[in-house]
Amino acid sequence: MENDLFSLDNKICIVSGAASGMGKQISLGFAEYGASVILVDINIEGAEETHSLIKNNGGKSLVVPCDVSNINDIENLYEILDSKFGTIDVLVNVAGEGLGGRPEEIELSILTKTLDNLVVGRFKMCQEAGNRMIKNNVGSIINFGSIGGWSSLGRGHAAYGISMAAVIQMTKELSTEWSSRGVRVNAILPAQVWNENLRSRVKDRPELEQTFKDGLPIGRLGNPEEVKGLAIFLASEASTFITGAIIPMDGGNLAMNSGGSYPGSSRIYG
Ligand SMILES: NC(=O)c1ccc[n+]([C@@H]2O[C@H](COP(=O)([O-])OP(=O)(O)OC[C@H]3O[C@@H](n4cnc5c(N)ncnc54)[C@H](O)[C@@H]3O)[C@@H](O)[C@H]2O)c1
Repeated sequence: MENDLFSLDNKICIVSGAASGMGKQISLGFAEYGASVILVDINIEGAEETHSLIKNNGGKSLVVPCDVSNINDIENLYEILDSKFGTIDVLVNVAGEGLGGRPEEIELSILTKTLDNLVVGRFKMCQEAGNRMIKNNVGSIINFGSIGGWSSLGRGHAAYGISMAAVIQMTKELSTEWSSRGVRVNAILPAQVWNENLRSRVKDRPELEQTFKDGLPIGRLGNPEEVKGLAIFLASEASTFITGAIIPMDGGNLAMNSGGSYPGSSRIYG
């Protein structure tokens, strides 16, 4: 891919959450643009499927099972990275589950588990990648946050929102500390993007789809493949002066200041 500003040729990239949704689409996109992609997930079958799609398309990838809320798993992942590739150019922190519940009722364990999944796991992944990238004086880290870390969604999202707000601040802190040493750190904040969980919630409560649409000026939910271009841009030479950016991928939600539950919908729990 000569003279292509967006080329990821010869880049070694880790993508967590590579078995489905946005992590899968980013993995496919990175491989299409020439990267070797390390596919991280707890869903091994799904990650193997992503690997097969990449392989059948002539791309390069490797599945590494890893629970990003488990520090030992993350250390093991980076040992594999060192022994098989010896370097890392791009890290995309997509994986991590948020647990829900009304703030007045949830057990503290729900909060700590969500923090482990979304904050401690992302931080440890950044720390491992960042150390290696600083040595090479080059690298790009992309953290997945959420519109729910910027404005409040309500509807039982307190633990999730608190965690995603921390991801936004983590991104700014790391960018400030590391960008002069070659490491750019940016965040993507999606609004509602179709995934299995969202489909089953909307199946159970069809009115939720309209609730979401009311907060999306673009008039529809997002599709996971719509993140590909943005992720390739942030990973590539096309974005070399962009760091510390908190980028909504939200169909206009934050611009409208509508959260995830525009007027009248705050009563809908689900
Ligand atoms: N889809 C949305 O509407 C939306 C909106 C805002 C933010 N986000 C955030 O974007 C990210 C991805 O969303 P998605 O829609 O692609 O989700 P998804 O459910 O389609 O995919 C998530 C993937 O992460 C994996 N995973 C979950 N926990 C893991 C763990 N502890 N260790 C390793 N892998 C794990 C799952 O197996 C799955 O393959 C999440 O962090 C989510 O919170 C999503």
